[in-house]
Amino acid sequence: MTDWPVHGAISGPIVMIGFGSIGKGALPLIERHFKFDKARMAIVDPDDSGRALAEQHGVTFVKSALTSENYRDLLRPLLTNGGGQAFCVNLSVDTSSLAIMEFCRELGALYIDTVVEPWPGFYFDKTKGPEARTNYALRETVLAARRKSPGGSTAVSCCGANPGMVSWFVKQAMLNLAKDIGVDAPEPKTREEWAALARRLGVKGVHIAERDTQRAKHPKPQGVFVNTWSVEGFVSEGMQPAELGWGTHETWLPPNAGQHTTGCGAAIYLLQPGANTRVRSWTPTAQAQYGFLVTHNESISIADFFTVRDTDGKAVYRPTCHYAYHPSDDAVLSLHEMFGQGGRVQDKHHILDEHEILDGVDELGVLLYGHAKNAYWYGSQLSVEETRRLAPYQNATGLQVTSAVLAGMVWALENPDAGIVEADELDFRRCLEIQTPYLGPVVGVYTDWTPLADRPGFFPEDIDTKDPWQFRNVLVR
Ligand SMILES: NC(=O)c1ccc[n+]([C@@H]2O[C@H](COP(=O)([O-])OP(=O)(O)OC[C@H]3O[C@@H](n4cnc5c(N)ncnc54)[C@H](O)[C@@H]3O)[C@@H](O)[C@H]2O)c1
Repeated sequence: MTDWPVHGAISGPIVMIGFGSIGKGALPLIERHFKFDKARMAIVDPDDSGRALAEQHGVTFVKSALTSENYRDLLRPLLTNGGGQAFCVNLSVDTSSLAIMEFCRELGALYIDTVVEPWPGFYFDKTKGPEARTNYALRETVLAARRKSPGGSTAVSCCGANPGMVSWFVKQAMLNLAKDIGVDAPEPKTREEWAALARRLGVKGVHIAERDTQRAKHPKPQGVFVNTWSVEGFVSEGMQPAELGWGTHETWLPPNAGQHTTGCGAAIYLLQPGANTRVRSWTPTAQAQYGFLVTHNESISIADFFTVRDTDGKAVYRPTCHYAYHPSDDAVLSLHEMFGQGGRVQDKHHILDEHEILDGVDELGVLLYGHAKNAYWYGSQLSVEETRRLAPYQNATGLQVTSAVLAGMVWALENPDAGIVEADELDFRRCLEIQTPYLGPVVGVYTDWTPLADRPGFFPEDIDTKDPWQFRNVLVR
């Protein structure tokens, strides 16, 4: 594909915050798909190792770290440079998504990010209890900002691959499932109708089921954390408590589970780090596999979105929803090394770029389970080889994220007054239409696998044989 479609015009300056693995990969997609004034695009990052690349693309590089003290003064001139409606694309770590989002809305600028990121210190603050370090708490701050200031210029919260694209996959997967099991229902138009469809289909839960088989040309050296995307981002979320959207079909609560007394009530957390918590899951390539139950915004937002409540507001249907992430083999080894050392993070970090990877696929999709056809995986199987052909400066993991950012940006341009929105609330068809050319094969596969397959083995186990799809059977204990 060489004739890339231009999806819209950005009338004001573009300000990208963070120029790491995702920022570098997003730049060529922004160049390809939008009309904008390159002379007014700026990238802000305290690490200027990407300066030459930015300048080679004709983009101004500002070597600065945004802080809670300086972000308004630093961003204002960049976001108002030359007039028009600015677009802030936040792809950084260690900056407050909420603060930057609210400031952009004050200025009437469009905004997008891929995670609800806090200012530094939040993730590793031992004085806060585990509940305060959850993504539930972070998401609630964004929901509160929306309640306080509804409408206004569009700010898309958490629009990467996951969180982000997977929310669009869930909807497409539900429609496919409805067709395949012969449920004759019109396509839902509202949140309530989507939730009603999920309930009618009997979906007990959703795994964000991922297998990253990208393998490095050189084996991981000891003492280096190797990953296919942000090491800092992965370590931060991996050390947060494991979290999951908590379905109404669950009959067993893990003994170390914490429940929230305020907010949407859609999730629970466990008193253990997510990247050291294993769950049983399934993807087409791996088939049955262990994944890590790393906390993610979408585990909560999807569970919340598909909740059906009675007239008293009590949840009468909600799917369980969580991440089941098998990262690249080097990342699994890196986690093993880190937790083996009491959770002390390696001093050296390395993100594998597309040239350092021998081969492999990032297989990222949603596993809808517990319905009449047992389980259905729907997702992207993007290889590093195809990624190299499609876009520069990124591996397969990166392109799944950057193409979702692109889709979210297009949606925001086409809906500039939608206020603060999550990926679940965007037009999933429009977003997938924009994103799919970058996703490699997008497939739907049924499986008869359940988390009770081949169990118990040699030893007695605490399992629920009546319902295979209980979290009790999914969690590795
Ligand atoms: N939703 C998703 O699917 C998804 C997937 C991958 C990454 N992400 C998120 O996207 C973000 C970027 O990921 P990445 O892989 O590019 O990370 P990265 O670690 O490669 O890059 C992050 C960049 O942010 C910069 N930065 C650090 N502090 C800053 C500050 N105070 N002000 C401005 N910039 C600062 C760093 O110097 C770095 O260049 C992370 O928050 C990550 O969690 C989301």
